[in-house]
Amino acid sequence: MSEKKLENMQDLVSLCKRRGFIFQSSEIYGGLGSCWDYGPLGIELKNNVKNSWWKAMTYREDIEGVDASILMHPLVWKASGHVDGFSDPMVDCKECNARFRADKIDLSAPCENCGAKESFTEPREFNLMFETTMGPVKDSGSTVYLRPETAQGIFTNFLNVQSTMRKKLPFGIAQIGKAFRNEITPGNFIFRTREFEQMEMQYFVKPGTQKEFMEKWKEIRWQWHLDQGLDEKKLRFHDHGDDLAHYADAAFDIEYEFPIGWDEMEGIHSRTDFDLGNHAELSGKNLNYVDQMDGNKKYIPYVVETSVGCDRHILALLCDAYRVENAGTKEERVVLGFIPKMAPIKVAIMPLMKKPDLEEPARKLMDELSQLYKCEYDVSGSIGKRYRRQDEIGTPYCITVDYDTLEDKAVTIRDRDTMNQERIPLENVRTYILNKFGF
Ligand code: GAP
Repeated sequence: MSEKKLENMQDLVSLCKRRGFIFQSSEIYGGLGSCWDYGPLGIELKNNVKNSWWKAMTYREDIEGVDASILMHPLVWKASGHVDGFSDPMVDCKECNARFRADKIDLSAPCENCGAKESFTEPREFNLMFETTMGPVKDSGSTVYLRPETAQGIFTNFLNVQSTMRKKLPFGIAQIGKAFRNEITPGNFIFRTREFEQMEMQYFVKPGTQKEFMEKWKEIRWQWHLDQGLDEKKLRFHDHGDDLAHYADAAFDIEYEFPIGWDEMEGIHSRTDFDLGNHAELSGKNLNYVDQMDGNKKYIPYVVETSVGCDRHILALLCDAYRVENAGTKEERVVLGFIPKMAPIKVAIMPLMKKPDLEEPARKLMDELSQLYKCEYDVSGSIGKRYRRQDEIGTPYCITVDYDTLEDKAVTIRDRDTMNQERIPLENVRTYILNKFGF
């Protein structure tokens, strides 16, 4: 059997639309640039990713979760450095007005949109934060920002969490939530968008120990991506060296080889005491930690951060899972080979025909298994076509109720990857499926 992996992002974009994973935002109005909506299968996949991250990162003694608001006091972004430093150099083409990031194009080459030569404006800094107005009156005092990272809601809650949960260093705070950046050149489907979701964790450590924890978190986070089913050959670390964000003293990315090439999926940053130190100064609040293990010494903790884009990780999962078997032949089948726990639909239940005597046991099974997992009931079209549809959305198991079921009280369970079929007594199906998923 021959197998082809995803080579072209457009194949994935159309599968995602056709099968209800991801739609363009506001599509009936012609869409809104680089904004995407997760459909019924997309949201299941996204919830699986978020649940997996949340469990891995917060079901442990040393990490607590929070859910901070998106709108924060404007001084937060002054302290974090985003008001003054969170910008990209931008140029416009004077002919067609297309906008580019000056650091991403060759300024001496023709405009890649219209071909005009020597048409770029001088680079100017463009702040990536979205501004909005709080309250009914628009004046300069009412400007607030949509957060460009979730991390700051963690820093501003450092004392709240530490004191209420009686945490001792080292400990972490984790959060999943939306972030917004007015990217100059978004694109490549959900890779770079202006609204996206981050899964971030700030690990507070004693100054001087940050390198050791950085190494530890690099290992843990690498393993998480493998546990999600990603192919290790498509993962690599990228060391930022001296090319660092304004808050970091060391940084590594976990990169994935997307069809557009290797690019960042997760950042692991040593953020020093930059954020807590600045918040202490600007808010006037004492954010010192009293180290009882070290003679009640007072200091601002250092921070090691892990920050993964939920959407970018989903894109990696989709790219990784996509395969075409026997590509180009009559028997071609497209499969999203997610590991079972990531699959949006865990089980499809298919009565062979739309007949009451077959539908009755099938419905019963649907009710029973829906208490455990997201299942789909599919009664339309030939069985072959139904299998192909489930393969294409990544459903690991299909259960067929046929005329023999009425006699032998058993069903056929088909495995997505091997396409092997097993005959299982109806009364054992629940246990069989539970054992397959292991949760
Ligand atoms: N708190 C640190 C921070 O925000 P970052 O490297 O700017 O660091 C972390 O972002 C992750 O967020 C990235 O690795 C990426 O997965 C995701 N991300 C950042 N900008 C994004 C965008 N415009 N669209 C989608 N995901 C994005």
